[in-house]
Order: sequence, then C-alpha cells, then structure tokens
Amino acid sequence: MTLQAFDTLASPSRGQTVKADPLWRSAVTELTQIYGDHSGFARCLEDMAIRIGRARFERPAELAALDAARSERPDWYLRPGRPAYCTYIDRFAGTLRGTIRHLDHLKDLNIGIFHPLPLLKPREGDSDGGFAVADYGDVDPRLGTMDDLRDLAAELRARDMSLVIDMVCNHTAREHPWAQKMLAADPDFADFYIVLEDRAEVDAWEVALQDVFPGTAPGSFTYDAPAGGWVWTTFYPFQWDLNYANPRVFVEMLDSLLYLANAGVEGFRLDSTAFLWKQKGTICRNLPQTHNILRALRCLVSLVAPSVFLLAEAIESQASVLPFFGTPQARECDLAYNNGVMTALWGAMADQKSDVLGAVITRAGEKPAHGHWLNYVRCHDDIIWLALADTVPMARLKAWSDFFGGQASYARGLAFQAPDGFPASGCGMAASLCGGLDDPQAVARLKMLYGITYALEGIPLLYMGDEIGLENFESFRDDPALRDELRWLHRPEMDWAAAAQALEPSSPRAGILGYLQKLSALLMRLDILPGQTVKSTGRDAVLTFERPMASGCFVCEANLSDVAIDLLCSGDILTGDRSVLPPYGVRWSMRAL
Ligand code: GLC
Repeated sequence: MTLQAFDTLASPSRGQTVKADPLWRSAVTELTQIYGDHSGFARCLEDMAIRIGRARFERPAELAALDAARSERPDWYLRPGRPAYCTYIDRFAGTLRGTIRHLDHLKDLNIGIFHPLPLLKPREGDSDGGFAVADYGDVDPRLGTMDDLRDLAAELRARDMSLVIDMVCNHTAREHPWAQKMLAADPDFADFYIVLEDRAEVDAWEVALQDVFPGTAPGSFTYDAPAGGWVWTTFYPFQWDLNYANPRVFVEMLDSLLYLANAGVEGFRLDSTAFLWKQKGTICRNLPQTHNILRALRCLVSLVAPSVFLLAEAIESQASVLPFFGTPQARECDLAYNNGVMTALWGAMADQKSDVLGAVITRAGEKPAHGHWLNYVRCHDDIIWLALADTVPMARLKAWSDFFGGQASYARGLAFQAPDGFPASGCGMAASLCGGLDDPQAVARLKMLYGITYALEGIPLLYMGDEIGLENFESFRDDPALRDELRWLHRPEMDWAAAAQALEPSSPRAGILGYLQKLSALLMRLDILPGQTVKSTGRDAVLTFERPMASGCFVCEANLSDVAIDLLCSGDILTGDRSVLPPYGVRWSMRAL
C-alpha cells in the first residue's frame, strides 16, 4: 500500500460529496481545534476528503449491505451470550488459514467477536508481539496474506462471527516506510515522529512522564543517530511514537484503517489510545486533544464504514477511561476494556472481599448508554494494579501484587515491572493465577471469575486457553528472544490435545468448557436489559449484583471466599442447602418484582 497508489485512484468529485456530509463537518470541527493553526491543515483536509471518497467508492457491496442492515441497531456487536475471543494467530493455529480450520472451536463457545492479536506485517526480530508494525497494508507473511485475512473475515461472517483487529495507532516500527522516509530526509515525512535534538529538552519532558516498561525499556526516548536525536519511544526503542500534532499522521492512520475496514474488518482495537497526544509538563496520557482525535475518527469511519466499531485500549484509571466513550452527541469509542473491574476482580480474590470490586462495578455504570464494556479476566498483557491507584490504598495494591506475583499464596504468577516504589503488575494465565489445575480449588476459582464476568453488563471476553484452563507457558524462558519479557508467561500455544480432552465429560478441563458454554446458553435465553446495581449483602465475601429484566431481575451472587456461605442464615456457615454458596461458588438466578 503506497501513497501514490491511493492518490491515482482518488477522485476530487467524490471528495466533494464527502464534504457535504454532516459527519464530515463534525470531524472538521474537532480537527480544527487541534490543527487549526497548522500550515498544512487545509491541504490535509482536501487530501482526506478525496481518500474518504475513494474508500467509500471501494467499499465492497457485501460490507455496505452489512452497514445498512446494522444501521437499525448500531450496537449490533452486543449480543447476549456471544462472547469475544482473543488470541495470537501463530499460537492458536499457526496461520490465518489454519485459524479458519479451527473456527468450530469458536462456534462451540458461541463466540460472536474474534480478536486475533496483531497480525499485520511487523518489523523483523522483536516486535513486542506484533505491536511494532512495519506495514499497515499487509499481513505478517508468516501468518498469511491480505487475501487470507479477507477470507478469514468472510468465513467468520458466514458463521455469524465478526473479525476485530488491532490498529496500532500510537506508534510504528522504526522500519515502517514513514520512519524510513523521515530518516531519508523526505520533507513530507520530516514531522511524522518526535525527535528532540537536545538531551536537556528530553529531560524537561521526562519529568512528568511515567515509564510503561521501566524494567525492559526505561525512559520514553531513545537516542538514534540517523534520526538526529532522541526519538519518542513510549514503549520499546523500536516502537516510534507518531507525532499526532502533524495532521498528516492522522490522515495516514485513518487511511490505513479504512483500507482494513474494506478488507472485512468489522471492528478495531485502538491500541494504546491514551498516549496519542503529547504536551510538555503533563504525563502525556488521556489529554483532551486525544479525545478530539477520537471524536473525529469516529465520524470519519462512519462516513465509510458506519457499522465498524472502535474499541479503546486505555488501561488507565476508571476516571480516565470513561471519557473514551465520548458523549451521545460526540461519540468516541463504542467499546472499552473494563480494566478497572478486571483488576478489582483479582484483588477481590486475593482479599476474599467484595468491597472494592462492588465499588468499581458501580463506577463502571457511569458509562454513557451508547458505550459498552468489554469485560475480561485475562488478556495478553499484565494486570496493572496501578490502574486502581485512585481507588485502593497503595499498601493493598502491593499486597495484591505480591499475592499474584508468587509470594506466599496459591497463585503461580510472576511480578512484572512498575515504576520505582509502585506495586509490580502481574503476569500469568488465569488457571495458574488460580493455583494451577492440580489445586483442587483452582477450577472453582476460574469458574467464579468467568461466572461474574459473563454476568456483567457488556461483552465478555475469553482469553485463549482459559476455556480449557490452560496454564502458564513456563518454557518462554528457554527462548532467548522471549525470556526477558515476562508477559510471555501467559502467551502459551493452544493445546489442541487438551482441548480434545475437554470434550470428555469427567475432566476438569471439560468442567470449565462446559461451564462457559452453559453461561453463554443461559445468557442467550435470558432477556436482560441495560443497567446493573451492586447490592450490599452485609457479608464481606459475597458480591451481589442485579440486572433488570422485562419482569423481575437477574441476580448474580458470588462467594469470593474459600469457605461455604449460607446466604439466608446470618453469620452461619452451613453446607448442603440451596441457600448455601460453596467456596468460590457463583449463583445466577431470577427474581420476580
Ligand atoms: C498495548 C498492547 C501491549 C503493547 C503496547 C505497545 O498496551 O496491549 O501488548 O506492548 O500496547 O504497543
């Protein structure tokens, strides 16, 4: 995919039609707020209108029909009992074609949304699990081709599932053509990245910044002689942050996204969304200008592919994540990771207490009606305890970090990294953090985590392997390319033999798989309405929340402790009664009004 190829296909008259659309005008209003003073802005708008016109013209009829069908229900992706599933393609099935051969597994779990982690062409060598993209217009050749991606999208659609992929929008690989053109002194790309010539200037910015990988990639800048100074690299040194203060960066990223939308991608996970805008003296996360960008992006994506959804990956405090939905009048992302609840869920298990979890679930309810949570237990990243720093005292976060970092608990996890003096985030597969399958309580703990997650308002996300209780990938330490990155601990290969075993009724793995299938089937039958209320039960270890139904309500009760609790008798612990929740038991029920 080259700029020239786009430009020759583009037609100015199509650009005029785009400019007549109210969505265009809303986007221009947003962009003018941040780019109004930029000398290249007017030219960028012209270029952008032409490119959007071309993308509209090129939208395949089948996808345009899907847009039309979904216009009646803009939140079409919110389907009861249809979870999302996330995996690395190579670790799931080797290739995109191999993945197509395993779609029955997803079907068995009633999956509605399939999210393969980055699959676009990465840089050679370490690419942060694919998050260092060298070409947004091509697939990683080890996984397949663009045609394979189109086929996967179509095969999923044929089975009533949707493909969502990552749009790594904050940075590119150093090897990306934009960076290479900058290095080759191409004036059109001079301003695509942020390069500071002066170390004192770097220090002035660094004062307010917080490292993401303080252990493996300290600092937010990397000295690069060919680039002529210190390049902004929030994550790894080979991941160059794009300079969104240059409107051309926005146009190119939009163009790349629309190209992929037209290849059949039905939703985008906007990677590291919090980091897009930089402003000296701030932590350079969640800045208002980032929200201008997202509001404009939502409008412009809607001009071409209105049914395509945007998922915010902003692993920040709840107060900082909520604005990523925007408002009903000025929408941003349609979905966001509910990382506050995920983090509190693990903390609740460590403490056997529901106080923080209940408060965080209640706070999550402050989202606007048009935005939805992606609820999850684990993902390919670490559990960042610090995301709850504004809600939970540091000592308690530290205790959670220790608990799951493998210190004096059943959990078999590892402590990852955190800025000096802060609790280190946690790594490990859910089954291992629950004690490992040889721990008699582990399956109950894992089921509890998913039993709560599936019951929450939003879309539940299943992380590959959790459906069969796959444990840590301990041998990442044997691979020199992986051993310094502890997150590989929870990035195992799919164990298809174990998945086959899970079909035999009596195994613990079958218990997990069957449980998830049952939850999903129940949700499909129940007609649960939006909203949820956390109820106080007077028992520290019990989480209870209700969700409205047309008549009555749905109740989820979870016992976070390792002892049975009788919900009727005050204070007594009994067994063998319908009112008793076993250790780590979850009960879903319906209550008439
Ligand atoms: C996101 C990804 C993470 C990656 C980072 C940089 O947070 O989930 O895996 O390291 O972005 O791209």
